[in-house]
Amino acid sequence: MTKTAIETDVLILGSGAAGLTAALNLAQRFKVIVLAKGGLSEGSTAWAQGGIAAVLEPGDTFESHVEDTMIAGAGLNDRAAVEFVVGSAPAAIERLAELGVPFNLAEDRNSWHLTREGGHSHRRIVHVDDATGRAVQQALEKAAAAHPNITLVPDMVAIDLITSRHGERYSGDGHVWGVYALNRARGKVEAFTARATILATGGAGRVYLFSTAPRGATGDGIAMAWRAGCRVSNMEFMQFHPTCLYNLEVKNFLITEAVRGEGGRLKLPETGHRFMPEFDERAELAPRDVVARAIDHEIKRLGLDYVHLDISHMSADFVKGHFPNIYRRLLDLGIDITREPIPVVPAQHYTCGGVVIDLAGRTDLPGLYAVGEVSQSGLHGANRLASNSLLECFVFGDAAALDIAEHWDELRPPPPIRAWDESRVTDSDEEVVIKQNWTEIRRFMWNYVGIVRTTKRLERAKHRIKLLTEEVEDYYGHFRVTPDLVELRNLLQCAELIVRSALRRKESRGLHYTLDYPKTLARAVDTVLAP
Ligand code: FAD
Ligand code: SIN
Repeated sequence: MTKTAIETDVLILGSGAAGLTAALNLAQRFKVIVLAKGGLSEGSTAWAQGGIAAVLEPGDTFESHVEDTMIAGAGLNDRAAVEFVVGSAPAAIERLAELGVPFNLAEDRNSWHLTREGGHSHRRIVHVDDATGRAVQQALEKAAAAHPNITLVPDMVAIDLITSRHGERYSGDGHVWGVYALNRARGKVEAFTARATILATGGAGRVYLFSTAPRGATGDGIAMAWRAGCRVSNMEFMQFHPTCLYNLEVKNFLITEAVRGEGGRLKLPETGHRFMPEFDERAELAPRDVVARAIDHEIKRLGLDYVHLDISHMSADFVKGHFPNIYRRLLDLGIDITREPIPVVPAQHYTCGGVVIDLAGRTDLPGLYAVGEVSQSGLHGANRLASNSLLECFVFGDAAALDIAEHWDELRPPPPIRAWDESRVTDSDEEVVIKQNWTEIRRFMWNYVGIVRTTKRLERAKHRIKLLTEEVEDYYGHFRVTPDLVELRNLLQCAELIVRSALRRKESRGLHYTLDYPKTLARAVDTVLAP
């Protein structure tokens, strides 16, 4: 038994928008520790470009934002969750502005400039140029670092949740008391315990070969929650962003949807033919699933490597003014977007499914909350509407904090827990196994579980996942954990949940499109998996 666990009131796994929002709220009353598996700014939040959706102008309405979200989500959304998030959005934006996020102003300088993205029937996206996430991450991190009740701990890789079975006395109530985490610097596993634990670990995008998400998006929180006993749902709905830069060296640079929102057109490279109007009356501003499938269709039909996204018909000042970061980055790569089109391909972008939560961010297990991309709150349904995800992080980060404060007395203090047992493992003698398996999963997920699916391809993926899982679990049982091994195990678990969910869905809806069941069924039902 150990008394050496590092104790705090609330433990938060993840230092992105969701984790830091919860931390800042909780710190008014409690001691909070925030863990990040690498640098504090290495999650998706800092990479967000387009902005944050909110109803901020008299011409726009909450009803319209709700409807747009439900239409994009193909009716699978939970209306209560959508209304909750949309209704909370203006206040969330105000708070970010108070924290110092320098949102772009409109020409009159009296209101914020609102941009437009696919699926939105109004201009309603506040932004900081084309690098909104970086400004948000900086503001949240600065406030958290300055708060005496918040301890930020980078380079700490959470491995598994500590549940009541790790206690001195075994208890089967599934209560979560914290986490075992690998300290990268020391190479040792440490235990962190708390009355409440919040998963804010982001998505699982890196399960695919091509993804706009950062290297650490390996679905750790989803896999940890699943192993601990939480339900996970809607994992088949992986969002592919239509416009990721096609470049042989830079593989995951996003070209924000706002480029299309501000007039960018999708064209075929050889002829310059604008093809989106043939697929959808909303053309380039159709929801992402529609645009990504159209591009995929044209690429496969014509044997192309990419299509073109062209905004060069707008004035150079307009382009540079609206997209300064993209302009500079692409100029470095030899593409002047004020004069020539951008080669783009779809790439995985967002994990719509995740750990099942209620409107207070509560999971199935007492003491465990989940917020942000790791969770499935009911907001996104079968396809996330652009710029609704940062918003979800702020709204649910606050909701979880509020619930913890309200129920503090019911949340029991952690008992003494067992130390991490390394007595039966040795250092690995074959690191190559990890690299090989990591590449293999990402490749077959891309080829077999991508934008257009078939049952046969899903079955092929399922078979491979089974073989790899046996190999990786055997490896995990014999060798000391490393960050790469932790991530590989989690990626495999997420791949398994994605494929299992996709096989269950006998229809095409939103992001899940299968040639074997092309129709959408009348009734929209979540795919809920229980461990
Ligand atoms: P993240 O910001 O991803 O943070 C995850 C945190 O968890 C990190 O701190 C990480 O270190 C930590 N973590 C993970 N695993 C572990 C572990 N095992 N142990 C310890 N810590 C761990 N959404 C919008 O609304 N608007 C946009 O304009 C937009 N643009 C985007 C552009 C790009 C390129 C990408 C990739 C996404 C974009 N999104 C956008 C989506 C949005 O950025 C994310 O959904 C959101 O930032 C997720 O925030 P989060 O706090 O849930 O997770
Ligand atoms: C983008 O800027 O295109 C990304 C917006 C989002 O993912 O919500």
